[in-house]
Amino acid sequence: MAKRIITTELMEEDKKLESSLRPQMLTDYIGQSKVKDNLKVYIEAAKQRKEPLDHVLFFGPPGLGKTTLAGIIANEMGGNIKITSGPAIEKPGEMAAILNNLSEGDILFVDEIHRLNRQVEELMYPAMEDFAIDIVIGKGSSAKSIRLELPKFTLVGATTRAGMLTPPLRDRFGVVSRLEFYTIEELKVIILRSAQVFQVEIDEEGAIELARRSRGTPRLANRLLRRVRDFAQVRYDGKITREVACFALDLLEVDKLGLDHIDREILTTMIEKFGGGPVGIEAVATTIGEDPGTVEEVYEPYLVQNGLILRTPRGRVASELAYQHIGLNYLQG
Ligand code: ADE
Repeated sequence: MAKRIITTELMEEDKKLESSLRPQMLTDYIGQSKVKDNLKVYIEAAKQRKEPLDHVLFFGPPGLGKTTLAGIIANEMGGNIKITSGPAIEKPGEMAAILNNLSEGDILFVDEIHRLNRQVEELMYPAMEDFAIDIVIGKGSSAKSIRLELPKFTLVGATTRAGMLTPPLRDRFGVVSRLEFYTIEELKVIILRSAQVFQVEIDEEGAIELARRSRGTPRLANRLLRRVRDFAQVRYDGKITREVACFALDLLEVDKLGLDHIDREILTTMIEKFGGGPVGIEAVATTIGEDPGTVEEVYEPYLVQNGLILRTPRGRVASELAYQHIGLNYLQG
């Protein structure tokens, strides 16, 4: 699959950028107000009781701030954070070593937690519940199990696929929070703040234009801001206005709704080749020469979320909004 500028997965170019932009405390964190309000109460209560915070699970699409929130929890609780991910840990011994090296009140952040292998996951059950793990020493008839007490820590898990978490793991989280796409207004505030960090001049209209095309995702907003800044500097006088943002984003082929050429090809194919549907996702994917799984998991969710594609029992249907957006007449009853 070709690299898309609008992917919300973490790209190499985002890494340094994101760490310089990340808010450090809850009050600096914009959006996700439900999640934030709840966390505020749980953090305050845990601090009053001088106990670690309950284990927290964040789920939702990539790029919405799960890692950022884990860092904020550590700062607010006054603990350290250790960051790892499901696929990075291959053996229970590796996880045991990480757990054993934590200090009381530390945060262990496990990204893509649905990808922990089964043995590692099973080690997490007593670790989360009793702050202890059982380690087997020796082999065969002389093997013994000893219990290792762990410091009281908080596990913060993140996943884009909550449905793939096993119930025993999921049930051990005291706090389960779903992150939502950001509104244009929220993204605008994030963009204005990031522009200050980058020391690039931007006006309100420029920020709104960027926000509209950022697919509800701060990671993408910040990435696009950086690209647009380059255009502002080289082709204009350095300031990002609506005109500059439109010019740059049009060149980058990110349209008014944040769609790129593949998204538009999917909609155009549905409308022109399949009469707007209902049509199966495989037929659309084959027609444009893409893998059906990729179309379904990577391209389609944002189109569905924005009401451009409707999922019906008989197949996918292009909505009236899709016709308008592509610039075709909607002739269906
Ligand atoms: N940068 C990225 N996400 C952010 C957020 N939610 N609030 C403030 N700054 C951010």
